[in-house]
Formats: sequence, structure tokens, C-alpha cells
Amino acid sequence: MKSVKDKLVLVTGGGSGIGRLMALDFARRGGRVVIWDLSQKAIDQAVEEARKEGLEISGMICDVTNRLAVYSCAETLTGRAGPVDVLVNNAGIVNGKTLLDTADENIEKIMDVNSLSLFWTAKAFLPSMLERNTGHIVTVSSAAGLVGISGLADYCASKFAAFGFNEAVRMEMRRLRSRVRTTVVCPFFINTGMFDGVKTRFPLLLPILKPSYAASKIVKAVLKNRKCLIMPRFVYSIFLLRLLPVSVFDFIADFMGVNRSMESFRGRS
Ligand SMILES: NC(=O)c1ccc[n+]([C@@H]2O[C@H](COP(=O)([O-])OP(=O)(O)OC[C@H]3O[C@@H](n4cnc5c(N)ncnc54)[C@H](OP(=O)(O)O)[C@@H]3O)[C@@H](O)[C@H]2O)c1
Repeated sequence: MKSVKDKLVLVTGGGSGIGRLMALDFARRGGRVVIWDLSQKAIDQAVEEARKEGLEISGMICDVTNRLAVYSCAETLTGRAGPVDVLVNNAGIVNGKTLLDTADENIEKIMDVNSLSLFWTAKAFLPSMLERNTGHIVTVSSAAGLVGISGLADYCASKFAAFGFNEAVRMEMRRLRSRVRTTVVCPFFINTGMFDGVKTRFPLLLPILKPSYAASKIVKAVLKNRKCLIMPRFVYSIFLLRLLPVSVFDFIADFMGVNRSMESFRGRS
């Protein structure tokens, strides 16, 4: 396992949910952790939670959809703390409505946050990683980045894009024979509030994950340089099921309750 001791770790959307838990976990392991988030209140709460444990986390307001703000925050951060060693692209949003019920601007917004922001943060931090021939980019995609789900067309599209982004960057790193590592993460639903109300038909196979479990698995996957983390394990079966005819695949998705999971979705209040 590699160490993050004294390494600079940046977690986007680190003010709440699994982002905050990953930030705390990296800090406990000796990382110098910085979080970017939209809300000062969420940043302050994360910083305070760390302080209570005797850890130091710092935070900056940075809207990852704002390309110029990302470049400017990156410059400020690098000037203050040096180059980023681990970039965790975790900020994300969900709309949770059917395609025709989703307002155009919300579709654009979700693509901005969940997909396009990955380009801006990578363009900000990858050059120094390549120059130093070390570093790690983590992309938090989703199980919804592997399978389409009724009621999540925009979210699925944005997370498929995130999965593809990570894979192409990984290939670029291979081609350059670079030691910059990548990890893509595809979790099933996590009980952070983002997907409040969703149901799973077979909780033994597809449990709604605890935030602390998901965050700790992601941090460990990074430390082990795992290229891909999918959780729970049952979700790996998607790759086998894709070998079946599409109509059989769709039947199995229906049977597993995938297409009804969003019927009771409330999301964050
Ligand atoms: N929860 C799940 O079931 C689940 C499953 C699979 C994958 N994921 C993915 O895991 C990641 C974390 O999810 P979570 O459940 O921890 O959600 P969360 O608690 O809602 O955390 C997401 C964080 O991202 C921040 N954020 C949103 N837009 C941003 C922007 N433009 N710039 C900077 N920060 C922004 C949010 O800030 P505000 O709160 O201030 O808006 C929030 O702090 C997301 O990428 C999500 O898609 C979640």
C-alpha cells in the first residue's frame, strides 16, 4: 500500500457526504487535505470535525463547474501548498426526474458538475503530476455509470461520461508510460441523503451502502492503486450480463428492481 503521509490530497465536494468522510480518512493517514465545495458552512463543518480529532483540513469555496474558478483556485492552492498529489473528483449532483420532467438547465448543470468538471480539474493538476511523474486522479462515477436506470437519464449519462473519461485518461497515462495512477469508483446507492428514498429490491445482493464503508473502501482502493472499484461486488455482474441479448439484459434489470428504484426517490430536502 502506498502512503499519503505529507501528500497533498484535494477532495472536490468534500464538504459533505462521502467526500467529507474521505477527506477525514486521508487526513488520519497523514495527508495534507484540502476540500473544495460550494458552501462555506459545509467547509467549516468539515474543518471543525477534523479539528476535534486533532487533524487539519483546509477548505476553499470552488465551484467545479466554473472552469476559470477551477484554474484560479488551483493556482492559489498550488502557490500555498505545492502540487496536488491526489485529486479526488467527488463533487456530484442528481436531479432524479424522468427525462421529460427534467428542465433543460438542470440537464446542463448535471453534465457540468458530474462530467465536464473532471476535465477542468485534470487540466489544472495533471501537468504537474506528469512533470513529477507521480500523482493519482480518482473519478467518482457510479453503478449508474455502468447501467442505465429509469428516472436517471441525465445522471447515468453524466456518470457513463465520467467512467469513459477515467478510462481514456488511464490509457493516455499508459501510452506516456507515466506513473500517474487513476482509480474509477462505481458505487451502488449510498446512504448520504443524495438519493434519499430510493429502494433496493434485493438488499442482500444490492445493499444501500453506508457512507463510512464506501468512503473507507475508496481510500483503500487509492492506497492500493486499484484501477477500478465497484461496490457492492454483485454490480460486477453487469459486465457478464452485457454479453446477453439486450432484451434479456433488460428483463434481468427489471427483475432486480433497477427500474423501479427511483419511484420512491425524494433526494435531499
Ligand atoms: N449517494 C449515492 O448514492 C451515490 C452513489 C454513487 C455515486 N455517488 C457519487 O458520489 C459522489 C459524492 O456523493 P454524496 O452521496 O457524498 O453526495 P453529497 O453528500 O451531496 O456530496 C456532494 C458534494 O458535492 C458538492 N458539490 C455539488 N456541486 C458542486 C460544485 N459545482 N462545485 C463544488 N462542489 C459541489 C456538494 O455541495 P453542496 O451540498 O453545497 O451542494 C456536496 O458537498 C458524487 O459524485 C455522487 O454522484 C453517490
